[in-house]
Amino acid sequence: MDGAMIRPRPVARLARGMPASDGAGVKLNRVIGTPQLADVDPFLMLDEFRSDDAADYIAGFPDHPHRGFETVTYMLAGRMRHGDNKGHTGRLDAGSVQWMTAGRGIVHSEMPEQENGLMQGFQLWVNLPAKDKMVAPRYQEIPPAEIPVAALPGGVSVKVIAGKVGDATGPIDGIATDPILLDLALPAGARVALPLPPGHNAFLYVFDGEAAIGEAGTRVPRGSIAVLGEGDSALVAAPAAATRVLLAAGRPLNEPVARYGPFVMNTADEIRQALLDFQLGRF
Ligand code: CO
Repeated sequence: MDGAMIRPRPVARLARGMPASDGAGVKLNRVIGTPQLADVDPFLMLDEFRSDDAADYIAGFPDHPHRGFETVTYMLAGRMRHGDNKGHTGRLDAGSVQWMTAGRGIVHSEMPEQENGLMQGFQLWVNLPAKDKMVAPRYQEIPPAEIPVAALPGGVSVKVIAGKVGDATGPIDGIATDPILLDLALPAGARVALPLPPGHNAFLYVFDGEAAIGEAGTRVPRGSIAVLGEGDSALVAAPAAATRVLLAAGRPLNEPVARYGPFVMNTADEIRQALLDFQLGRF
């Protein structure tokens, strides 16, 4: 490979997550969807939950609606029971992913299925294009064994949830924004370059250790997000310690966003309609 052809993306923006509470009082670190970082089109929200104190998570997320976008739950530790108003139910174990396309509407609950121990994971909200906001709901539920791991030089391993790394292709398919979602584990001293489609928006969230991003080696500590600028790859190093990074990229929609709680549409009228439909039990 001709090294001159690689244009690693620099860090365009750095932000820290902020403490937040959602559902019936689950404590979490909100990374996207904050005053500092409203969104990274098409990503509308990123929450990290991570606690071994049951008081922080036990109340869970009782019945609540969604319309107009997708929720992605990636569990790292613990167990969550999921159920919805269409009779769909399932358990999310450590290492599993649920990619839910809410489309025209779903009412669901996400409740911890443990009373103690570590509960850790992410919820990412991915926007839908205007033409797909009212599609029928769809679930993709992926157990840990079906998420391929790419073993790369230097001891780097990459869980491929969506997208492709080498021969490893993520199981998530048919998503409007052609997303890439990777869980990177780098031993101390390792470095990896991963190709990214030039037109995609991309971010890296460091959830363990400390990363150095791009040719400038911009330091990104645990709990911080780096939104990447233009280029064709993500260059990630772990200069000091073993480091874990969530890497996401998606095709931006560049459409107006009208957002009210769990409804994300294009206009205020569509939000009013969503509230009305929910109140009338039409989800
Ligand atoms: Co939900």
